[in-house]
Amino acid sequence: MSNTAQRKILVTSALPYANGAIHLGHLLEYIQTDIWVRFQKSRGHACHYVCADDAHGTAIMLRAEQEGITSEALIDRVSRDHQADFARFGVGFDNYHSTHSEENRYFSELIYTRLRDKGHIATRDIEQMYDPEKGLFLADRFIKGTCPKCRTEDQYGDNCEACGATYTPAELIDPVSAISGATPEVRGSTHYFFKLPEFADFMHDWINDGHVQPQIRNKLLEWFESGFNEWDISRDAPYFGFEIPDAPGKYFYVWLDAPIGYLASFKNLCEREGIDFDAYWHRDSEAEVYHFIGKDIVYFHALFWPAMLHGAELRTPTAVNCHGFVTVNGAKMSKSRGTFIKAATYAEHLNPEYLRYYFAAKLTAGVDDLDLNLEDFAQRVNSDLVGKVVNIASRCAGFIKKLGGGKLSAHCAEPQRLARFIAAGDEIAESYETREFGRAMRRIMELADEANTYIAEAEPWVLAKQEGREQEVLDICSVGINLFRQLMVYLAPVVPSMAEDARRFMKLDTLAWDSRQALLLDHEIAKFKPLMTRVETDRIDAMIEASKEDLVEERKLKEAPRGPLTDDPIAPEIAFDDFAKVDLRIARIAKAEYVEGADKLLRLTLDIGGETRHVFAGIRSAYAPEALEGRLTVMVANLAPRKMRFGVSEGMVLAAGDDDGIYLLEPHSGAQPGQRVR
Ligand code: 2FM
Ligand code: ZN
Repeated sequence: MSNTAQRKILVTSALPYANGAIHLGHLLEYIQTDIWVRFQKSRGHACHYVCADDAHGTAIMLRAEQEGITSEALIDRVSRDHQADFARFGVGFDNYHSTHSEENRYFSELIYTRLRDKGHIATRDIEQMYDPEKGLFLADRFIKGTCPKCRTEDQYGDNCEACGATYTPAELIDPVSAISGATPEVRGSTHYFFKLPEFADFMHDWINDGHVQPQIRNKLLEWFESGFNEWDISRDAPYFGFEIPDAPGKYFYVWLDAPIGYLASFKNLCEREGIDFDAYWHRDSEAEVYHFIGKDIVYFHALFWPAMLHGAELRTPTAVNCHGFVTVNGAKMSKSRGTFIKAATYAEHLNPEYLRYYFAAKLTAGVDDLDLNLEDFAQRVNSDLVGKVVNIASRCAGFIKKLGGGKLSAHCAEPQRLARFIAAGDEIAESYETREFGRAMRRIMELADEANTYIAEAEPWVLAKQEGREQEVLDICSVGINLFRQLMVYLAPVVPSMAEDARRFMKLDTLAWDSRQALLLDHEIAKFKPLMTRVETDRIDAMIEASKEDLVEERKLKEAPRGPLTDDPIAPEIAFDDFAKVDLRIARIAKAEYVEGADKLLRLTLDIGGETRHVFAGIRSAYAPEALEGRLTVMVANLAPRKMRFGVSEGMVLAAGDDDGIYLLEPHSGAQPGQRVR
């Protein structure tokens, strides 16, 4: 490193919930953070980038239940999907962990007990809506009912979408649990609270001390006007999370242990790589800690989190860096318009580095929303990366091969120009450092324009046709490659994969920031291969169409069965005696197995109270075998055995469904295998 001391930097992005796919809205943050981290690493700093899945809470527990798998199985699967998505987009975490980890349990307990022992935790009884059927306290969003003001039905527990009224769930007319449909009751239980008001002065000083952007500071100050309530950090069982020490049946609220996941993931990295954890988190640490987050979760990160850390005698973050939301073509991402684009869907159609560049070109240090205008996206990537940057190398490489045998000139024909390109690196670095990536990209493209103008005016292709001017041509093109090399050093944090190909093309050991100081003279380069192809607009169209299809898939998985379908008319009437011939029984699914060679069927072993039946059911698309074992369902017990390709089916289980999904019928709890269904 040339003139700056090595810094110790820990960087985080918000932890994505472990129950949904990564989409372009998420990616803005991970790409922004990753660019900043890659820049710091390029500068030679000790910079560690950690993240994790945010794995706890009711939503994840219910989702797992809906899929018929354990919460652990759900979070494992989602974590793998998330990591695959991040890898595709070049998001280079040094560690990816989970809040459902031993490290996180340790730090959650540590922070909580320190706060408790210093008197910052209170307990008191509160009353809440309770679903007696599910045996679950209900957060407001899980209660629905008729608006007490305008009487619109089917409104959520805290506000009415029709008239905008806000209310408490207890005020709803005919409230029902959105989970089970049961009528909720009011029940009391003891909750644990973090005494936030005790930290009001500390939080006030902290947000005035340059740790957040000015717009965010102003927003946070508004919250001070209304004062702070104590923060409810406990949830009653059943809850997927960590039990609170010495409080059986009480769990840490997901938002309590989520940010602690930053510590947990870093600790996990430290153990693996021998990094000194305390050097980063000790109260007097001189290391820097940055959290990159969306502006919607600033309340937790810039108020609660510093207060928790301070109360637990740990250091607080150097800064919380907020960004705005992604819009697509000027509007909120929309599933029906196909602009709610998942990371995986994007990557199936377009090069992820296009998006990294486009986001970089539009990012500032502020919190304004960023619009992904798809026409502008194609135009800008094609004109800047392909038309300007790659073009420099592709115009020069052939002559170097032909006239220099693949070796650059031994002297530099434009030392001053190169010196200016090198000097521009300081200014560009300043823009990266302050997260003014758009400004950095503009400066880099100005330099690219200058390089192209130089080559266009020098016209090596004209000189190449004139005898005796070979050295001149080689000199010009060698300058061209040297200028291209400067640009790739500057762009590497944004387009790491393209930069890696460029590094190989130039046969360089590194594109680290300071490596640019030494010119490439008498230096061999490899054969040129196109480093980036143009964005094709039909690929964009295909991505939008595929995103619309994603929506259909999601509906199939999620939506409740609908009423009688108009395209599935009710069958002709039958006599009661005909119906009475059907013997329906409660059956326990003792075993469920895949059937080799049958992609729709599962083979079920049913227990109907002492008697066992083997039945083939076309439900494989909707259920994993292990999710079914032990469940009750209903079967037709007196159906004549049918010989099928894979064996004899001794009856039939009842399921609702059509092309949109399959739902096995299940009796309320209490029913016993073998009981007659009437
Ligand atoms: O808003 C969210 O997506 C949360 N899962 C972010 C958590 S960030 C940190 F606190 F863990
Ligand atoms: Zn209303």
